[in-house]
Amino acid sequence: MDSKKETQERRKKRIAVIPGDGIGQEVIPQAVKVIQASGADVQLTDFDWGADRYLRDQVTVPPDGFAMLGRDFDAILVGAFGDPRVKTNIHAKEILLGMRFKMDLYANVRPVRLLDAALCPLKGVEPKDVDFVVLRENTEGVYTDAGGVFKQGTPDEIATQEDINTRKGVERIIRYAFQYCERHTKLDGSPRNKVLMCDKSNAMTHAGGLWQRVLKEVSGENPQITAQHMYVDALCMQMVRDPRQFDVIVTNNMFGDIITDLAAGLQGGLGMAASGNIHPGKTSMFEPVHGSAPPIAGKNMANPFGAILTAAMMLAHLGMTKESEQIEAAVLEAVRQKKTTQDISGKLGTREAAEWVATQVSGS
Ligand code: NAD
Ligand code: IPM
Ligand code: MN
Repeated sequence: MDSKKETQERRKKRIAVIPGDGIGQEVIPQAVKVIQASGADVQLTDFDWGADRYLRDQVTVPPDGFAMLGRDFDAILVGAFGDPRVKTNIHAKEILLGMRFKMDLYANVRPVRLLDAALCPLKGVEPKDVDFVVLRENTEGVYTDAGGVFKQGTPDEIATQEDINTRKGVERIIRYAFQYCERHTKLDGSPRNKVLMCDKSNAMTHAGGLWQRVLKEVSGENPQITAQHMYVDALCMQMVRDPRQFDVIVTNNMFGDIITDLAAGLQGGLGMAASGNIHPGKTSMFEPVHGSAPPIAGKNMANPFGAILTAAMMLAHLGMTKESEQIEAAVLEAVRQKKTTQDISGKLGTREAAEWVATQVSGS
């Protein structure tokens, strides 16, 4: 390879694409089509990790798979994992949680944005009223699988699931939240300046105590940002009562999982929600919030916009701001013109809605 070509090649961002199972196999190819329509200078490599491969040869993650992703790629675009044929869900655990844990992608960034008032189930709520982000701790909590089962299958069975909270883990996600305020504005250009930590420290006093102490300490170093606290149950109620009050929410792994499905509801449903699994400076992974949705899989019904907005988020992360903004603008236009799938009241199929966005992007 001559040196000029080599430099060009090196500049290309390398993206690993893992569609996974169910609707992941439908929405990810569409997101890829939109990335290509944007002209983003990327090199895409497909991987067949998922239920089909696991059922065929019992491999979830090939040997050295995570090291390979970290070494050979700048980002990973993922669909979803979960298949009714794999009752244990072992492949989802090893692939998805494997990437999050073993690649140490500690910040699960889940933006919550309403693109059009018609998508929100709440009365009188407009796009300007729903513009917050949930930062979910992504490497510990009850997801570590610490614990076990004793006397299984007997009347004396005991099952424990430990909630692991390390000082390092809690501190880095809370710091990330304060840094997020410094680095991002709201959609209307106004600053992000409120970090709300959500927990259940009234009942879970050990873990909650650590989160509370770290919040106080880190907020003391960032007096320009308002630190707030809410119990997770109250937060759920507030999210549907008045989403305007939220700016940056930081929370643990499980609460973050639950409240982001609720938050997806504010945006028009699971088909609209995007996310990134990030460790600054390391290869990060981007996936829509939704799962493999078996009931609608293979029917060209799944909303591809969550996956497309996820692709836009990935491009922004990789420095391709122009392409990212073009894609977001095209999705917004599709929603406004009702060029959408049925779940958000359109008439198009997965492919047709994505095609509309791709055409819009390539013409912009
Ligand atoms: P799900 O997100 O797959 O779907 C729930 C329902 O939401 C669907 O039945 C569908 O009605 C709707 N929906 C979701 N995505 C949609 C889209 N793009 N367009 C239109 N409608 C959409 O959640 P579930 O049913 O609880 O889980 C199904 C499987 O997916 C399980 O195996 C679960 O473990 C897995 N899952 C995986 C991920 C992931 O890999 N990131 C995330 C969530 C769930
Ligand atoms: C998500 C999913 C996963 C999670 C599941 C599939 C393990 O619900 O990404 O939101 O709980 O993190
Ligand atoms: Mn979830």
